[in-house]
Amino acid sequence: MSKAEIGLIGLGVMGSNLALNIAEKGYPIAVYNRTSTRTGAFFENAGDLRGNIVPCASLEELVAQIKPPRPIILMVQAGKAVDEQIEGLRDLLAQGDIIIDAGNANFRDTMRRFAELEGSGLTFIGMGVSGGEEGARHGPSIMVGGKEDAYKRVESVLTAIAARYEGEPCCAWLGEGGAGHFVKTIHNGIEYADMQMIAEIYGILRDGFGMEAKEIGAIFARWNEGRLNSYLVEITAAVLDAAGPRFGQTHGRHDPRPGGPEGHRPLVGGRGADDGGAGDRDRIGRRRAQPVCRKGAARGGCPRLRRRISEPRSPRAPDGAFIDDLELALFAGKIAAYAQGFAVMAEASSEFKWNLPMPTIARIWRAGCIIRSQFLGTLARSFEADTKAENLLLIGDFVEMMNEAQPSLRRVVSHAALGGLPAPALSAALGYFDAFRQARGTANLIQAQRDYFGAHGFERVDVEGEHHGPWGSGAAS
Ligand SMILES: NC(=O)c1ccc[n+]([C@@H]2O[C@H](COP(=O)([O-])OP(=O)(O)OC[C@H]3O[C@@H](n4cnc5c(N)ncnc54)[C@H](OP(=O)(O)O)[C@@H]3O)[C@@H](O)[C@H]2O)c1
Repeated sequence: MSKAEIGLIGLGVMGSNLALNIAEKGYPIAVYNRTSTRTGAFFENAGDLRGNIVPCASLEELVAQIKPPRPIILMVQAGKAVDEQIEGLRDLLAQGDIIIDAGNANFRDTMRRFAELEGSGLTFIGMGVSGGEEGARHGPSIMVGGKEDAYKRVESVLTAIAARYEGEPCCAWLGEGGAGHFVKTIHNGIEYADMQMIAEIYGILRDGFGMEAKEIGAIFARWNEGRLNSYLVEITAAVLDAAGPRFGQTHGRHDPRPGGPEGHRPLVGGRGADDGGAGDRDRIGRRRAQPVCRKGAARGGCPRLRRRISEPRSPRAPDGAFIDDLELALFAGKIAAYAQGFAVMAEASSEFKWNLPMPTIARIWRAGCIIRSQFLGTLARSFEADTKAENLLLIGDFVEMMNEAQPSLRRVVSHAALGGLPAPALSAALGYFDAFRQARGTANLIQAQRDYFGAHGFERVDVEGEHHGPWGSGAAS
């Protein structure tokens, strides 16, 4: 007899933890993994929760073990693996069953899958899950896209496993089609912008002031008590505190030679990582003429070439006032990153007719996810108070916060540029803010250049329609 209420495919890092979370909340769950040894090991290690877990050796067995209508979560590698699993399930499932893709899908793939399953009798949900391993196990932030009535059918289990912020579950239906996965992509964009800016501040302290990891960690720990209070700043402090002198210290106060002595050689390499959503985020950002994704510029590639052209620095003594500037600069950069993220969501929401609920998005990011922070509480309250706000930079509280913080961002970006310290994300944050405040942009010249070399036409401020210029042999139309 079928005993599970829900199924899950993919027992990797996220899937195994999500399955344990579901089992712990009292929902019997059937699980399947392509590599069966992983299923066995997962079940063996599930301890007291084994009573609520049904390990399955095939998709057929998995389907047979779930009570209809069957909700099945896919937690496999985004892309081809998701299509393969849907294909494998299609003939086994029955009318009313629900496939939930909980991986980091490209939202356009999600929209395609909705279209492909249309008329099949199966229901599809595209769901973003954030919080990493720990979040999946004890409460992630969950961003759901699809039909609202489909969400209602799985709402109880999803809200039961989600993180809670002051008792409120960090899980919500955000809109139809690819809405959930799109919001997750923006979440990850903000996450990586935040990480990059934190890393740049670390770089200024390390290379500009020659500070050691532990000293820098203590600064981040102090900042975590204030306006920068967040999971990412907290873990940065913890990483730096635990790292010791072999963490990336290449030419500090104690040894000006590049590479340093053996004890100061970097232990953790410098290659960055990609969350997978960057391509789409970049394209959308470019179309909207906004510098959305900041991480590409400083991913830490080409280490051999970088070593060849790097120069020894002469760090100066740490300066208290400038360290306060760094805190405010990071805060200003964070505001700019969120402003861009929410602006892109507003654009996509109108393009795809999702009607994304911005205050709800801010609310479900307050706990469980990687970007959880004190700041998101302020952001949620501000969006609730000003539901018509077109950009975060126009909301009262944020205008004031940015006014206070932006002079520091300017000083830090100038300091970094003059000192030859790379700070591409902080510079882009400042660039976004300044471009946003510029009443008349400079793209008029680009339109004219494009018309000159390619007859692409331009818009005029005073007359409707497409126009061409008097350059070359043509006359203005
Ligand atoms: N890790 C995170 O912090 C995090 C956070 C949020 C979202 N995500 C997303 O969650 C999803 C899973 O990530 P993860 O970190 O759990 O990955 P993972 O640990 O690498 O596990 C990948 C899972 O996908 C399965 N898989 C891969 N290719 C498959 C295929 N062709 N057919 C069937 N199964 C296949 C693997 O099965 P085998 O054991 O057979 O290889 C494994 O169970 C991804 O979309 C990821 O982007 C990850």
